[in-house]
Amino acid sequence: MNVKSTALALAATLLLAACAPRSDMDRYIDDLMSRMTLEQKIGQLNLHSAPGFVSAARVTEEDENVKLLRAGRLGGLYGTGNLEYIRRMQEIALESGAGIPLITGMDVIHGYQTVFPVPLALSTSWNTELVEQTARIAATEASASGINWVFSPMVDICRDARWGRIVEGGGEDPYLGGELAKAYVRGYQGTDGIYDDHDVMVCVKHYALYGGAEAGRDYNSVFLSRQEALNGYMRPYQQAACAGAASYMSSFNEFEGIPASMNKYLMDDLLRKAWGFGGFIVSDATAIAEEVNHGIGDLQEVSARSLQAGLDMDMNSDGFVGTLQKSLAEGRVTEADIDRACRRILEAKYKLGLFENPFKYLDATRSVKEIYTPEHLAFARKAAQESMVLLKNNGVLPLRKDARIAVVGPLAKDGSAMAGTWSMSDHNDESVTPYEGIAEVAKASYAEGSWLFKDKELEESVRFGLFKIFRPGYTAPAIHTVPQERLIAEAVAKARQADVVVACVGEIANLNGEGASRTDISVPDAQEELLKALKATGKPVVMVLVTGRPLTLGWEDAEMDAILNVWSPGSEGGHAIADVLFGDVNPSAKLTTSFPRNVGQLPLYYNHKNTGRPHPDDEPYRKFVSCYIDEINAPLYPFGYGLSYTTFAYSPITLSAPEMPVDGSVTASVTVTNTGSRAGDEIVQLYIHDVFATSTRPVKELKGFRKVHLDPGASVRVDFTLTKEELSYYNHGLQWVCEPGDFEIMIGPNSRDTDGTVLRVIG
Ligand code: BGC
Repeated sequence: MNVKSTALALAATLLLAACAPRSDMDRYIDDLMSRMTLEQKIGQLNLHSAPGFVSAARVTEEDENVKLLRAGRLGGLYGTGNLEYIRRMQEIALESGAGIPLITGMDVIHGYQTVFPVPLALSTSWNTELVEQTARIAATEASASGINWVFSPMVDICRDARWGRIVEGGGEDPYLGGELAKAYVRGYQGTDGIYDDHDVMVCVKHYALYGGAEAGRDYNSVFLSRQEALNGYMRPYQQAACAGAASYMSSFNEFEGIPASMNKYLMDDLLRKAWGFGGFIVSDATAIAEEVNHGIGDLQEVSARSLQAGLDMDMNSDGFVGTLQKSLAEGRVTEADIDRACRRILEAKYKLGLFENPFKYLDATRSVKEIYTPEHLAFARKAAQESMVLLKNNGVLPLRKDARIAVVGPLAKDGSAMAGTWSMSDHNDESVTPYEGIAEVAKASYAEGSWLFKDKELEESVRFGLFKIFRPGYTAPAIHTVPQERLIAEAVAKARQADVVVACVGEIANLNGEGASRTDISVPDAQEELLKALKATGKPVVMVLVTGRPLTLGWEDAEMDAILNVWSPGSEGGHAIADVLFGDVNPSAKLTTSFPRNVGQLPLYYNHKNTGRPHPDDEPYRKFVSCYIDEINAPLYPFGYGLSYTTFAYSPITLSAPEMPVDGSVTASVTVTNTGSRAGDEIVQLYIHDVFATSTRPVKELKGFRKVHLDPGASVRVDFTLTKEELSYYNHGLQWVCEPGDFEIMIGPNSRDTDGTVLRVIG
């Protein structure tokens, strides 16, 4: 992890590589490039979206991409899994210019045709094997659709739930984020270093620090010190590189006053030199052109600077293809700059096996057999079961199967809300809804219950804004055709005839994801009105929360009988919801993001610093300490939190030794017992706190976790090994150091309720 020593090791490796004989790949690419014109080389650096985004476009000679291909000015395409389209474009690529096959990318984010829970939901399983398997299935389905490159994993750490893209990542913790990043890379790319026709290349995004957008507003600037960036945000990107990630996508934001897509420190110094990344970097969509808006220069200037900083491929800006020849002629870039980027892209194509067989990923027989299969759907159900966080339960859950259940709410029958943001599946609307899942098990009635928002224009733009952009000629259906009062009255009537109400409310898919920042992260107003009317019936109300971000749930926490946060759970969401509601599955997921009480607490994260005037999290306002007049500091639900239908007891923590030489190791242990009457899974979490250090350190940092299964009454001892790796951090000089002294070692069921002991590290 140490930037300096990694850089030295890398220098030695590079030296050895320089003396080593050239590989088959090097020779192949040397030969190929010797036959390529400058224009063709620059063409390899150009990535375009397929027309109509994911439509089944028919290929004509008038298409802009066809013209570019014929001229050898296109290196890759993204945004479609249409086999026939990709095949035809691949044929044209081979007929044209230097005859180099296209790389074909796609935003495969949480499954492809089989949709898994959104990534934030998957992270709450804390099950890296499960996450790896979702990526494996997604790779199988995508690679059977002509796709050989996925724009995933998204590993941006985020501490601010206003940012809609929090849904795409693994939450607020860099350690967990790093473990998840590796799992995704293994799942998509496979583990043997060879791409067979079921493996696809990953594109780790958004490099870097995109999740640090100021005030949670999408695309906003990031203001972090290098030290905080390295300690709090970078680990997932770095771990992905260690796991062999083949490509990265540079982000929209600036860092230290330089847009990420032209940031040499990020791309060259850190990613390539310090972490040893050897693949290629593509810009985010139109990110090069956006550097003009950042105020750096015209398209020629920003394109030249981006290339020189280490960016290899231009997504949708036409900056490289449009200006690099001129920049070369004017001496603003060198031929070596262009060759370097071109070589990296050709290497990726070579490793994918596209030179050997450009049609490797275009096997139509696979596309009928290997997509959206019963096995994949069964796994989607398992993934959803493990990704639902029980936030509150006063005993109403699990539900009895002989109960009469009123399933109400605008999301109760919304399949696309189950699929969630960034779902490119043709089957989004077929996703099993909460109503369908519940009605298969028990006697269920249904009422829509409410609008989404009281403001019609707002609701229209949230529901249909995306379609208006991507579906030319799209006409939005009418909304608010039935008055809100009538919808509520119908739901209340159904509730009165039932034993229990299941209210399905929250965020539709378009209310989170890209370009979906919110300043008010409560349950949208029209739906909250419904919840209040249901509460007034006196019937027990179980809230099934569909969301892609933490919401402020103060009223709901006080008034609802139970809250099951199901996120956007994917193709099999409704089945998994029923599995958990009726107790066939005991919920085990735990939050990976803090849920604020109040939007004014944001950014809010468990691994914060102490300040010089700390104030206990749960105590009310006091003058001259670090707190708020009108709200306590504690989140409503902390990082790591989640309930089960059983209970677990933790023994006091023990250490194998009270002291550890800095190069030694120590085992921290607890015994966990299932003290309830149902079998269940518990996610045991280990945190540390560096009591004194040469730089300030967070109050708690996750450094280990283990998921254990326990039958009623059973106990298990859970051991965590600690070495200097877990106790190190980037100091003020950006060196990765373990500083001798006292460390608090804490273990518990979440980041709040831990028990600790002290370990002395001796230098
Ligand atoms: C997003 C990326 C995505 C790209 C291509 C951008 O707007 O930020 O996450 O991969 O579009 O669709």
